[in-house]
Amino acid sequence: MNTIIRTKNLSKSFNNNYVLRDVSIEIPENSISAIIGQSGTGKSVLIKTITGMLKPDSGEIWFRNKELTALDQNEMFEIRKFFGYSFQNAALFDSMNVGENLAFPLEEVLHIKNRQEIQKRVKEILDWIELPGIQLKRVDELSGGMRKRVGVARSLIMRPEVFFFDEPTTGLDPVLSETINNLIVRVNRELGITCILITHDILAAFRISDKIVFLDQGNIVADGSPAEVAASEHQIVKDFIKISFSELKV
Ligand SMILES: Nc1ncnc2c1ncn2[C@@H]1O[C@H](COP(=O)(O)OP(=O)(O)O)[C@@H](O)[C@H]1O
Ligand SMILES: [Mg+2]
Repeated sequence: MNTIIRTKNLSKSFNNNYVLRDVSIEIPENSISAIIGQSGTGKSVLIKTITGMLKPDSGEIWFRNKELTALDQNEMFEIRKFFGYSFQNAALFDSMNVGENLAFPLEEVLHIKNRQEIQKRVKEILDWIELPGIQLKRVDELSGGMRKRVGVARSLIMRPEVFFFDEPTTGLDPVLSETINNLIVRVNRELGITCILITHDILAAFRISDKIVFLDQGNIVADGSPAEVAASEHQIVKDFIKISFSELKV
């Protein structure tokens, strides 16, 4: 399988504290890869660095055959059009209705001027996330789950190649979490988009991912298929998995 994103010895520190230390990962194209590990261990910093929101201190980031760490700001801006995001605090614009929120990136980032083309793509994406016809709804009329899906749709409408989900189910009840996990699987299977998922939901990560990267204090301590990571002899990984799976024994 082709590698779509690769990091080589990526390091990042804040105030002389290492947050990422020589992180080298490979993300296979068209896969779902989960990044798991305790809170404050560098997961969000890792994907913010990959997507160019943070600058690494050293190391390389590659997207296909392009070294992102060698690009200037304008070149990186162009590359970011291939990336979609669902971040914890990503907010929709409250002053715009759903349709306007979805049209925004088409107009402002892709510079599409044709109203019909925009309306068609807005309709298509709302149908696809199974919220047809809500173009005129105000954002504050949406439930938490709907808001989350519209947020994902606002990135999907750009037709990204890689989609980054940072804790997409944190704070959602189990039923809504399941809806979002199923949406991630559909984004991957139906649209062929590579998904990179940070999650606290270890059971979901093992269920839906093709690959798991386990991060501990900025170091990769396990990396492989769910079965390989589940069989890891690393004590931190063993403890983490044991605690997570013990929730099953009701
Ligand atoms: N912009 C920043 N400035 C200083 N420290 C930061 C910044 N972003 C993250 N950190 C620190 O880096 C560490 C890892 O954070 P993060 O990647 O957000 O953890 P998580 O694994 O929970 O996503 C934390 O100690 C956090 O406080
Ligand atoms: Mg985080």
